[in-house]
Amino acid sequence: MSYLELSGLQKRYRDSVAVDDVSLSVEQGEAVALLGPSGCGKTTTLRMLAGLVDPDRGAIRLDGAEITRLPAHKRNMGYVFQSYALFPHLSVARNVGFGLEERGVGKPEIARQVEEALALVRLAGLDQRRPRELSGGQQQRVALARSLVIRPSVLLLDESLSNLDAKLRDTMRHEIRSIQRSLGITTLFVTHDQVEALTMCDRIAVMDRGRIAQIGSAEDIYERPATRFVASFVGRSNVLPATRDAEGRAVLWGETLPVAVPASGEFDLFVRPQRMRILPVSEPVSPGMARVHGRVLRSVFVGDHVEVLIEGVGGQLTVEMQSGSAAPAEGTEVAVAWPLSDTLPFAREAA
Ligand SMILES: Nc1ncnc2c1ncn2[C@@H]1O[C@H](COP(=O)(O)OP(=O)(O)OP(=O)(O)O)[C@@H](O)[C@H]1O
Ligand SMILES: [Mg+2]
Repeated sequence: MSYLELSGLQKRYRDSVAVDDVSLSVEQGEAVALLGPSGCGKTTTLRMLAGLVDPDRGAIRLDGAEITRLPAHKRNMGYVFQSYALFPHLSVARNVGFGLEERGVGKPEIARQVEEALALVRLAGLDQRRPRELSGGQQQRVALARSLVIRPSVLLLDESLSNLDAKLRDTMRHEIRSIQRSLGITTLFVTHDQVEALTMCDRIAVMDRGRIAQIGSAEDIYERPATRFVASFVGRSNVLPATRDAEGRAVLWGETLPVAVPASGEFDLFVRPQRMRILPVSEPVSPGMARVHGRVLRSVFVGDHVEVLIEGVGGQLTVEMQSGSAAPAEGTEVAVAWPLSDTLPFAREAA
């Protein structure tokens, strides 16, 4: 049995299902991201873990003991809310020490642990400030220190970096990850930011309408998406409508591609733009490659790469080229090639 086990968790609100049968096993010291679009049930899942929302069904086990109905204050979980929820009238030190005060820890011991926690999040010396005298990123770190100081069995972070600018967010990602690793804290990290999920966690659980659509490493999720939803939500893909020939092979833009396709019904081929290459029409490709033909519509320089839009008989697709490599001129007839193994067929969803 894993350190933290969620089994068959469900939560309904009136007629809508916020969380529908979520099961998840988290090992001690592991960081798992809950990734998914707005409204898919991430916060509700976290709140059930923290003891702030009662599940209608299912069970939560921590270190072998069932805690499904245990009150929040007995769970020893650190919860960093999206809004930080600092006490505005208390100093940074009192904010951070709050959980220890509640637990009846003595003053000198609180002072010592608060200092240690503030050093950990690199806020030493700011202990007498009020939250309003801090930047967003500093407030963020106070909230983190406050949840770390109680030495939680599990750390729950809900969109904790969403209010920071891109640069600070990046720094905080690395800081939180290294704190999490060095203390070995079991962590559930809610985000709808893919980069955050990919960089901060050991495993990612992608949620879709109250359920876990796929759980795995960043590479699993990105390279081997289990469902059309996961393929669409994580990373970018060309979604290419294809048909089936008499032998059941995929036909795309008039070319036959030997990839396994759904036995019946309409389907699309998903191909990541950065897996595609632009070649001269006459250049041959090896047997493991797919190839179609088209004409360059336009090229857009986007900083670290160039996006080339190609139009063919079956529609349009985008190829991502490294900047520095010369993009072909508009109107050029070209071939586009990519590994067959990077071609993912998914049945088209009913509208
Ligand atoms: N207290 C509540 N009463 C009624 N419906 C709720 C309540 N809390 C959440 N919901 C609904 O449950 C669903 C899941 O909400 P939840 O907050 O878990 O989503 P989320 O994945 O955290 O989304 P976001 O990324 O926007 O924060 C949503 O449809 C939401 O409207
Ligand atoms: Mg939420």
